[in-house]
Amino acid sequence: MNPEQRPGIAGIGAAVPDLVITNKDLEEIVDTSDEWIVSRTGIRERRILPKGEDPIGLAIRAARQALDQAGLSPQDLDFVITATNLPEMPIPGSSPFLCEGLKVGKDLPFFDLIAGCTGFVYGLTVAEGLIQAGRHENVLVVGLEALSRFTDWQDRSTCVLFGDGAGAAVVRPMPDGRGILASCLSGDSSQWHLLRMEGGGIKYPASPQTLERRMHFLKMEGGGVFKSAVLMMERTTQKALKEAGLTKEDVDWVVPHQANYRILKAFADRFGIPMEKIVVNLDRYGNTSTASIPIALVEAQADGRIRPGDVVVLNAFGAGVTYGAVVLRW
Ligand code: UT7
Repeated sequence: MNPEQRPGIAGIGAAVPDLVITNKDLEEIVDTSDEWIVSRTGIRERRILPKGEDPIGLAIRAARQALDQAGLSPQDLDFVITATNLPEMPIPGSSPFLCEGLKVGKDLPFFDLIAGCTGFVYGLTVAEGLIQAGRHENVLVVGLEALSRFTDWQDRSTCVLFGDGAGAAVVRPMPDGRGILASCLSGDSSQWHLLRMEGGGIKYPASPQTLERRMHFLKMEGGGVFKSAVLMMERTTQKALKEAGLTKEDVDWVVPHQANYRILKAFADRFGIPMEKIVVNLDRYGNTSTASIPIALVEAQADGRIRPGDVVVLNAFGAGVTYGAVVLRW
């Protein structure tokens, strides 16, 4: 890589299913209300992948869009990272299916990255490192989720929160001082229990008992996630900005993981930035986990909010628990 250049996002893309499920629709399924969901989360509707549809199709659409914007073809890629909470198959994951669908070049390395909802931010940072090490040039980072497939539709405390979708970024060396200026990844393994799906792994392999105990669905301790998310989004963002030699006054846009409007508002208050600088679209998509940041980025770029040269912060929190922030010059 030319020492004058930094790895950055050369193209982004996103895809969501067509099926819209509103809060009113959920009132028919669980004991909840539009009023509760909107006031506690800000979510009004989400997209759900219909039964039988393969989520990989969303990832392929998002990746093609990102490649087009970067002016590249799938054959130009030299690494693929798919961040996801639950892959297409436990073995071999999601990435091989995405690579097959994209018809990437021969001998392309790929892997799945599991870091909860922080997966996209982790993926960008890994891609940055691969490029800085001089071994790779065009890295595709995808966030892909079909959370509806392992959401417990009998559990009102979780099923109202999530949505399906995919987002993608092509990371490559960028000109003119653009690219990733700094990043801060973090985690707290002692809090692993806050978000979990216990069944189907090594500890509790699938069995009639795990099915009966509904262990193949996501469980969440929402209050614990909320508190640590607000604290750690601020901490990782401050650290990344400091490393970039910037302050909050330099930030044009924050594009956070879209989980809960109240979390974003509490972060904004703590960090000291107006809500107008925070890109929010969770009202229409819910929490799409690893896909939420790229979906929001695509919208904010398409409507002209984010422009080349802007300082953009991406920050997230998720299962693990993991946290991370990336500062970019767009
Ligand atoms: O990407 C990371 C993924 N996770 C998150 O981001 C989650 C972070 N946490 C949150 O967003 C919030 O904690 C929630 C939205 C999950 C919950 O909001 P809360 O203000 O922390 O509510 P709560 O869990 O304290 O529940 C308050 C009440 C409870 O009833 P009681 O015990 O006070 O009678 C719940 O049973 O609300 C009840 N409740 C509901 N009521 C209607 C929980 N879910 C629902 C629901 N509809 N869907």
